[in-house]
Formats: sequence, structure tokens, C-alpha cells
Amino acid sequence: MKSQYHEVYAAWKKDPEGFWAGAAAAIDWEKPWDKVFDADAGIYGRWFTGAECNTCHNAVDRHVAGGRADQTAIIYDSPITGAGKKFTYAEVKAEVEALAAVLRDRGIEKGDRVLIYMPMIPEAAFAMLACARLGAVHSVVFGGFAARELKTRIDDCAPKAVISASCGVEPGRVIAYKPLLDEAIELSVSKPQCCIIVQREQMSCDLTEGRDIDYRSAVEAHKQARTEVPCVPVLATDPLYILYTSGTTGAPKGVVRDNGGHMVALNWSMNAIYGVEAGEVFWAASDVGWVVGHSYIVYGPLIKGCTTILFEGKPVGTPDAGTFWRVISEHKVAAFFTAPTAFRAIKKEDPKGEFLKKYDVKSLRTLFLAGERADPDTILWARDLLGIPVIDHWWQTETGWTIAGNPVGLGALPVKLGSPTVAMPGYNVEIVDDTCHPVPNGTLGNIVVRLPMPPGSLPTLWNADERFRSAYLEEFPGYYKTADAGIMDEDGYLFIMARTDDIINVAGHRLSTGGMEEVIASHPDVAECAVIGVADKLKGQAPVGFIILKAGVDRPLADIEKEVVALVREKIGPVAAFKTALAVHRLPKTRSGKILRGTMQKIADGEQWNMPATIDDPAILDEIGETLKQRKVGSFG
Ligand code: COA
Ligand code: AMP
Repeated sequence: MKSQYHEVYAAWKKDPEGFWAGAAAAIDWEKPWDKVFDADAGIYGRWFTGAECNTCHNAVDRHVAGGRADQTAIIYDSPITGAGKKFTYAEVKAEVEALAAVLRDRGIEKGDRVLIYMPMIPEAAFAMLACARLGAVHSVVFGGFAARELKTRIDDCAPKAVISASCGVEPGRVIAYKPLLDEAIELSVSKPQCCIIVQREQMSCDLTEGRDIDYRSAVEAHKQARTEVPCVPVLATDPLYILYTSGTTGAPKGVVRDNGGHMVALNWSMNAIYGVEAGEVFWAASDVGWVVGHSYIVYGPLIKGCTTILFEGKPVGTPDAGTFWRVISEHKVAAFFTAPTAFRAIKKEDPKGEFLKKYDVKSLRTLFLAGERADPDTILWARDLLGIPVIDHWWQTETGWTIAGNPVGLGALPVKLGSPTVAMPGYNVEIVDDTCHPVPNGTLGNIVVRLPMPPGSLPTLWNADERFRSAYLEEFPGYYKTADAGIMDEDGYLFIMARTDDIINVAGHRLSTGGMEEVIASHPDVAECAVIGVADKLKGQAPVGFIILKAGVDRPLADIEKEVVALVREKIGPVAAFKTALAVHRLPKTRSGKILRGTMQKIADGEQWNMPATIDDPAILDEIGETLKQRKVGSFG
């Protein structure tokens, strides 16, 4: 089919409001909007002002009422525990309504925050939807974060309630969640009034009297009583959720998502970008703690009326590198979305794809990759193995959906390896230099999006309008700064090359090296430190820390390095995947004292590098190279 992309993009550009009003017709509204886009509202304008709606109604209730009551809505598939269960739309409604009743009993109302700290179990999705039903604002925190990170988020969003579970399950170990939650609440200034805890059979936990509620018995009581909890209408511009993501300092940014624009954009994307229809099975193998999980495990597929899969497992080792193929064949997945790192893990384990031979995966039409740069090797390997299109697409927690992609539903454009293809309707993407002037095609520059951002993208940061302005809008006036650098070619194809800030991407997880440096600097023996992201064959990047010890410290270096590694795991969490700390005598700096992290990274990656003109002492770079070589780190490994 000839791609309609160019016509659709041109139609959006000509009349953005008409375009999004058209897309909004697929959503149920309690009250229509006063304006499709109000340029005077919010920081750069707001979408669907004056409209009222409810996201849970659109994701669940309207499908139950509209003939999908008996269609499977959520498939829980957990190779790591051996569990599995299917929930129809009617069953999801019953679960969500009962949990909403539990929350309502505890006084949770529209606008109240609820923090969700959950492993990949169906109750995580029910929790999100129950909040949406009440108009409460959820904030999901990924299970791989430690207590201190949880505390920071609790203090920032001040949740009235927490929904959590007794444990998570990782290969070879069960992780007790409750002690982490208790410690976080102990440390936090803002104390939640109650914690609703799912007791899992792998490890149960003690409940704190007067504060904790057993999830299952409380929900069961309301299910038995058939308690009705109507969907509470909220403004389209009211927040649906806050999702914290790494910023350039240790303090994470609370990305705010609204209700109306978010539904419109996600619903549009399900068909236009992913090429799926209601009734089909869509699988995003991510985690509800990340934006991909929010948009494409929970909200997108359910709003569209698809069947979604909640997968608790890993691409390899649960039990083998054939897990993905088993899930696709068993549940007849039509479109599959994951991070390139997952495919690199499978390729490493099963380079010839032997496991695939055991399964019939002909239901699968397209594989979508995002979260990090999709390297051509991985794309080609997956394409050859599966014999279907492999589509890279680029987006961010902030945008909530694709900035640049290859819209399968509109007819795919030719793939150029290394490029996530073209800007989606809603995004006017430009490449500019540091003084905000457009650069010619083929020239590397800052990737920016001309304001306003489309429906679904963040309107601001939670309680931090100023930080939103300074982090995203000030450097390039009139634009949103993506903090990615890249190239646009003569066909409008984008190539995403690098971050322009201190963010690194480890196994598709976004991490701040600045945040790690803050933790390392708190070690009593460390005088100074620098963390860089070094290229890693499996995870894309891996953090490596360089530490300078305080004068007079004469303990064994290896002990201190180990303590630093343990400190990052304890304070940030295992997700940081911080395994290498290297003690050095000096760090390379400019004459004004700025650490030359970029040059260190190039040396570690074995890339060409130029001596920075402003360097204070060039000999230090040789010392860094020597340490990397001796310790077999990065390209010296
Ligand atoms: N709770 C607690 N710990 C967690 C966790 C969770 N929810 N998720 C990960 N961890 C731990 C892991 O067990 C690991 O611990 P370890 O250092 O003791 O081994 C650590 O955090 C790092 O995890 P990860 O980077 O995921 O590495 P891994 O070795 O467990 O798995 C991959 C590697 C490539 C298989 C895995 O990263 C993967 O499947 N990635 C897919 C990418 C993805 O889902 N991205 C989301 C955006 S689309
Ligand atoms: P996150 O907010 O966790 O989704 O991370 C967003 C960042 O991940 C982006 O700013 C990019 O740096 C990177 N990223 C995501 N998807 C891609 C992609 N398809 N290609 C290159 N980089 C990507």
C-alpha cells in the first residue's frame, strides 16, 4: 500500500486543530471542549480546554457497554513465576471498580495522588485504572529503584495512598518490596495515610497496623457487595498521572500527563502508527514503571479496545531465549513492541534463532523497537529471523508517544537503517545549532520541536512550571528541547545520535550520570568523581565511575571501589546497573574546571577524539586511557 503519511502529515500541518478534533471523535467525552487548542492556557497552550472526560471510562467501561465485555482485555503471562491469567473487559471493570471503592473508602478523591510501586502483576494495571476512575493522579515507580528514590518521589508528589506488593521476582531472587516501601515512608516528610498491599505467594509481608490494607481481601469485599463506583468526570486538562524520569540532577522530573489529549493521541497512534485494530492483541514487553508501560501496556491498547499483555519475565532465562516467541504464538500477538537490548540479549543467547522453530508466530505482523538507538545489526538480525518489518521509533517519557516513527497503519515508508524515520503529525521537528538557527540537511545539531507540543505530550512538570520552562523551553525560544542531538536528511528522515545532557541509556532505561555522581560523592573517602556511559554490547551503554580519593585515605582501593558500587545500588537501585568504579589520581578538566566527560567517553569507546583546545593538562587523558586499558573497561574489554 502506498503510504498516506505525506498527505496526513500535510493535513495536520495545514490545520492542526481540525486534525486533532477529528481524532478526538473516537473518544467518549462527558462534555465537549470549548477550544480544541487554547494558546493562552498553560505554559505553551493546552489541548481540549473545557472538555470533561474519564480515562477509565474510555479504557474499560465503554468497551464493556459497547460489546467487548467478554473480550480478553488483559493477559497476565508470568514465565518467571509460572503464573498466568486472562481478564475480560467485564472482569477488568469489576476489579478496577472494587479497588476504586477501596480507595474511595480511604478518602481518595479527584486530584489526590496515589503512588504505585508494583511488580508486573495485573493489580498494577488495575491500580492505575482505579485511580483514573476516581480522577486521582497516579505515580508509578519502577520496582528496580531503591528506597531513597521512592522517598524522593513520595516527597515530591505527596501521595495520600500507596498501592504496592509484598515482593517482586527477578531471576534467581525474590525482592522484598515492603521493607523498601517502609524505609521510604520512614525517610519521607510527606506520609501517605494508607498502603494497600498485594500479598504474593512467593513472599508475604507483615502489614503495619492502622496504615496497611490487604489488597485482595479489601477488593474481594467490594466485589461481593458489587459496590458501584462511577467514573468521575475530570477536565481534559486535569492530570492523569505523574511519571518521574531522570533529570540532569539527582532530583527526578515529574512529567505530567493530562487526560483528554493523552487519550486522543494514544488512540490515534494505535492504528496509524502500530497498525492494529480493536480486538487484536498488542504486546509491549516493557514494565509499567516506564512510559512505554503506561502508554502501550495499559492505556493505548485498552483505549483502542485491544487485548494487551502484561509480561512478567525477561527475554532470556525465563526460561530460555524462546520466551518471546512462545508468548507471541500462544496469544496470537499482532504487533510487538520492545527495546533493542532485549533482542540483543536473545541474539547473544540464540544467534541462529533455534528457539523460534518451535513456535508458530505467523500472527505477528510488525516488530517495533524504541527506548534507545536501534543498531542496524539488531534490526537486520530480527528482520531476517522473523521475516516481518522491524520498525524503529523515537520518543521520550515527556512526549508519551512517538515523535518520529514509521506509521505502519498509514502505510509504511521505506526503512533507512539507523533512522526512526520521520516526524509524526503533531511534531514539527527541526535541527538547530546552539544559537537556534536551522542547520542544513545532513548536519548534526540539536533536535527541537516547534511549539506547541501535540496532545499527549507533557504540559508541564509536577509543581515545577519554572523547571519545565528552564529545562525544555528557554534554550531554544519557541521550541521544545528534546536534549537529543541528530541529523535530518533530505527526505526528512531523522537520525538520533546522542543526548546533549548527562542522561545515559542502559538497557533501554534512562539514567542520570549526575544523579550517580551525587551518590558517589557522598562516600566519605571520595573527593571528586565523574560518571560516563560507556558503549556496551548488550545494554547499549553501561555506567563507569571515576573516583579521586581524599588526601590521606590509605585503605585498599579495591575496597573503596566496591563500596562505591554498593552505594549506588543501595541509594539508586539495581536498575542503575552500576558495576564499575575506577580509582584515578586526576580527572581531565578544562582550564575553567569542567570535567571533560565527553572526551573520556570517546576514549573508553575507542572512538576518534580531538584534544579539547581548552584542556588544562593533556597528560591526564593518557592516564585515563591507561586505567581503562589496565582494567579492561569499554573498548579495552
Ligand atoms: N525490580 C527489582 N530489580 C530489578 C527490576 C525490578 N523490577 N528490574 C531489573 N532489576 C534488576 C535486575 O535484576 C538487575 O539486577 P542485578 O544487577 O542483580 O543483575 C539490575 O536491576 C539491572 O537490570 P537490567 O538492566 O534490566 O539487566 P538484566 O541483566 O536483568 O537484564 C535485559 C538485561 C537486556 C534482559 C533486560 O534489561 C531487558 O529485558 N531489557 C528490556 C528493556 C526494557 O524493557 N526497557 C524498557 C523500556 S522499553
Ligand atoms: P525515555 O524517556 O526513558 O523513553 O528515554 C528517552 C530517550 O531515549 C530519548 O531522548 C533518546 O535519547 C533515547 N531513545 C528513545 N528511543 C530512541 C530511538 N528509537 N532511537 C534513539 N534513541 C532513542
